[in-house]
Amino acid sequence: MKILAIETSCDETAVALLDINGALEKPDIKVLGNTLLSQVALHAQYGGVYPNLAKREHEKNLPILLEQTLREAQLSEAELRTVDCIAVTNGPGLEPALWVGINFAEKLGKSWHKPVVPVNHMEGHLVSVLFRDENAKIKNQNEKLELPALGLLVSGGHTELVHIKDFGNYEIIGRTRDDAVGEAFDKTARMLGLPYPGGPEISRLAEKVRKRSANDKIKLPRPMIHSKNLDFSFSGLKTAVLYRLKTEKGLNDKFKADMARAFEDAAVEVLIEKTRKALFELGDKIKTLIVAGGVSANAHLSQELEKLMGKFSNIVLRIPTKLLTTDNAIMIGIAAFIKIKKTPETLKEKTPIIASGNLSFTS
Ligand code: KG4
Ligand code: ZN
Repeated sequence: MKILAIETSCDETAVALLDINGALEKPDIKVLGNTLLSQVALHAQYGGVYPNLAKREHEKNLPILLEQTLREAQLSEAELRTVDCIAVTNGPGLEPALWVGINFAEKLGKSWHKPVVPVNHMEGHLVSVLFRDENAKIKNQNEKLELPALGLLVSGGHTELVHIKDFGNYEIIGRTRDDAVGEAFDKTARMLGLPYPGGPEISRLAEKVRKRSANDKIKLPRPMIHSKNLDFSFSGLKTAVLYRLKTEKGLNDKFKADMARAFEDAAVEVLIEKTRKALFELGDKIKTLIVAGGVSANAHLSQELEKLMGKFSNIVLRIPTKLLTTDNAIMIGIAAFIKIKKTPETLKEKTPIIASGNLSFTS
């Protein structure tokens, strides 16, 4: 099945053309074309994503990326006609940005006479682990994805624990009550005067300090770590950083690095503890732990997840290849493939697609 996928939910414009076939648990995914333009540098001056600027950039970038993707795929006119559908993210995300992708996809669908399939961005992150990257050593990537699974979604907008009962059948069993963990990384970085996005920068500094000393010089709280539920809270952690900064005269590099490490230790410890609790509560039925979204690229989180897996020997850990941790169109194409296989009527749906900033992916 050939799927042209479009992603514009935040600050990355992405288009991919996939030829995807086979079993849902281990699909054969051929990337015929894949292009992405990041607006990160543009938004950096605002310390976060500025929705109207994102909208304008997506409008400018989409036609260019479509052309590049098709050129990369080298499809003849006749082959282009064999594309089965167009997939587009319809939420969650920034609505002005989502609308650009949806309008573009609908227009293309009309001119190519192809159906347009709406895709939930977070479902895209979860299924990104199905992509096998032959050029990278990704643990367990050649295995069939066994369900039920637990998903830990960690991105700039979300922090969720998801019980994946089957493809398309999800239950959110824990979520952040305030900031997402990626957002906390970004805000902490900003307070320390580090560039946006803050996650990679905090991680780089923290790794350096961790190599030098075994313990944190600065002690930060672990919000909600002992709460009975599976929810998270990261805004208190960010406030604790702010208060500690107020007591410091001038921020030297050493202090910044110690703070980056203290923050990362605290955030990761909470993520690990809640994941452990969720795995324990769901019991033997869980076969796989999927960790996805931008923050899944974090090296310290991966190391701690590996340690956690030592306590759950029957559960297989799946993390996407680095290229697919942050927003991309390949994951949107994979999610569309799964949706079509599970509910083929999707291709016949005639109701217009609506952008939904808070789209939930549980039914
Ligand atoms: O999934 P994503 O690209 O976009 C959303 O859907 O939100 O995630 C972006 C988030 C940003 O907050 C960024 O700081 C964070 O992922 N991030 C990281 C790392 N790389 C990206 N956080 C911690 N460590 C990293 N290595
Ligand atoms: Zn995302």
